[in-house]
Amino acid sequence: MLCLLDTANVDDIARCFDFYPVAGVTTNPTLIAREERPFHDILTDILKVIGERTMLHVQVLGPDAETMVAEANQLRDRLGPGIFPKLPVTQQGLKAIRILASAGFSVTATAILTPLQALLAARAGAAFVAPYVNRIDNIGGDGEGVVLDIVKMFSIHGLSTKVLTASFKNVRQIHDMALAGAHAATMAPQLLDMIFSHPLTDSGVADFNADWAAAYGADTTTLDNDTE
Ligand code: G3P
Repeated sequence: MLCLLDTANVDDIARCFDFYPVAGVTTNPTLIAREERPFHDILTDILKVIGERTMLHVQVLGPDAETMVAEANQLRDRLGPGIFPKLPVTQQGLKAIRILASAGFSVTATAILTPLQALLAARAGAAFVAPYVNRIDNIGGDGEGVVLDIVKMFSIHGLSTKVLTASFKNVRQIHDMALAGAHAATMAPQLLDMIFSHPLTDSGVADFNADWAAAYGADTTTLDNDTE
């Protein structure tokens, strides 16, 4: 399962790309607005960190398919081939997904709450579908179950569209996505940090370091013991 960052914060993106095996970045209008900076400046700065060929999913806002298609074209012209236009699975969005997919765009269908929305988006040509796991859980639904059904439907019907799971509030939900067969999960930087935060990992490393220091000296490493 690929791991993506769901944020538009350039500092967080730079920090996480430095430490973690991150495959790309997803943004949405809420995350962009939170940065309180011009839209294109944010995207240009993100691309400087991740490189033009790394996936950057950017949501369009047009009220109709024609405007969404125009937005996608402008985004790709300005920002390059790594841009995945994100389109919601409304009627107009579905129409625009079909137009963009036939024109060679890799499109992400977003705001997916049900398996059949995902199936239709895949049939329209979406490269990724993004089910909102936590938002489904929040209304008493079964986010993991929706993802399991999407993965199964794509397999039964031979669809190559990938499942990019989104909307998480805890690490367990992400764990469940990996077991459900999701191709990717996009998460807030803080959740990615939490995956790697475990007190027993920290205390285990501290114990190893103390044992080593007692035998070979404080502040030394294997480099200091290269006797050949
Ligand atoms: O990027 C869309 C999705 O991740 C939304 O997440 O946390 O606002 O439900 P959230």
